[in-house]
Amino acid sequence: MAAFRVNLKLKAVLPLAGVLLAGILAFVWITLSLEGSERQTVILVALAGAIAICAAMLAILAVLVQHPLVELREKIARLRAGDLTVSVGFSERNDEIGDLGRDFNEMVRQLRETREELERLYSTQMSRAEHLATLGELAAGLAHDIRNPLAGIAGVMEIIARDLPVASPSRQVLNEVQEEILHIQKILSDMLAYARPKPPYFREADLNETAEHAVALARQQVLSRPIQIEITKDQSLPPVEHDITQVRQLLLNLLLNAIQGIEGTGRVDVKLESRDGQAVMRVRDTGRGIAPENLPQIFRPFFTTKGQGTGLGLSLARRIVENHGGRIEVSSTLGQGSEFTVWLPLRKTTPGSAPS
Ligand SMILES: Nc1ncnc2c1ncn2[C@@H]1O[C@H](COP(=O)(O)OP(=O)(O)OP(=O)(O)O)[C@@H](O)[C@H]1O
Ligand SMILES: [Mg+2]
Repeated sequence: MAAFRVNLKLKAVLPLAGVLLAGILAFVWITLSLEGSERQTVILVALAGAIAICAAMLAILAVLVQHPLVELREKIARLRAGDLTVSVGFSERNDEIGDLGRDFNEMVRQLRETREELERLYSTQMSRAEHLATLGELAAGLAHDIRNPLAGIAGVMEIIARDLPVASPSRQVLNEVQEEILHIQKILSDMLAYARPKPPYFREADLNETAEHAVALARQQVLSRPIQIEITKDQSLPPVEHDITQVRQLLLNLLLNAIQGIEGTGRVDVKLESRDGQAVMRVRDTGRGIAPENLPQIFRPFFTTKGQGTGLGLSLARRIVENHGGRIEVSSTLGQGSEFTVWLPLRKTTPGSAPS
């Protein structure tokens, strides 16, 4: 329905004019008993007074209501044009118009925050996608160019090691070279796993067992160090549909990080539980912790603070968790330790519903 528009001023003036007219008529009627000249003077004075009151009321109305409304209309137009920095000046007032101004400013602030959050998410998703595409090409090239010659070098090293006299001082050098080759092979396979992820092979299995296996592997790494690794299983945990190899790998990555974060004596606790219809795995360590400025970076590929690190462990871990439709969280206090929490759904999520 096309609404009939009436200007605000007119809306305010019309009732005032009506009241004024009625007042004058009533006044004329009351003053009928007075003498002619007296009557005229009284009517003129009353008329002037009434007009002055009306003018004052209109002016007050304009200041109190119309100015804020005009400002609001201008700000809304700017908002619609995409300017999210607008705010209205009348929000300082301590009346209903002030309430309106505060509500408007608050709404704009929330809009601004939402847009900033969206932009941030969009840019991180974009950079992740670009990163992945580049990595895919890079990894394929590297695999082709380096893997085969590297396997050849490793083979030759083995032959040399076999032929070298046991007491030869070159053995030490050879061992170091072999370790370096293993390191390069690990970087390559991590990169390939990250760039060309295998889809999980879901199988219903006991997550306690998967975790125990990873813990056993991690214990092998700390045989000669004063680090205790404990696991608290949850026997009431229902079977979880998961890729056993991948989840073991993800847990091992978390455990290795925990171990590498401990200088001297320390302990690592792995705890399983079921919560809100999901399986939860926690890995807590008493290591050096993660600096707050590093926390947002640690899941990025190639972010590492270690001389020997490739910085792919946590990106792979996150990839595995996400491909299982789960999520991974971290909390850490510098100097006290870190805790990684992995949430996995008990059942495989329908294809496409897992975040990429
Ligand atoms: N439990 C932990 N304690 C302290 N720092 C940690 C822990 N877990 C992760 N970090 C930090 O996060 C960074 C990234 O970890 P990530 O596992 O991705 O790579 P990395 O361990 O450096 O190398 P690699 O590819 O060999 O795993 C680490 O270099 C370290 O600074
Ligand atoms: Mg690591």
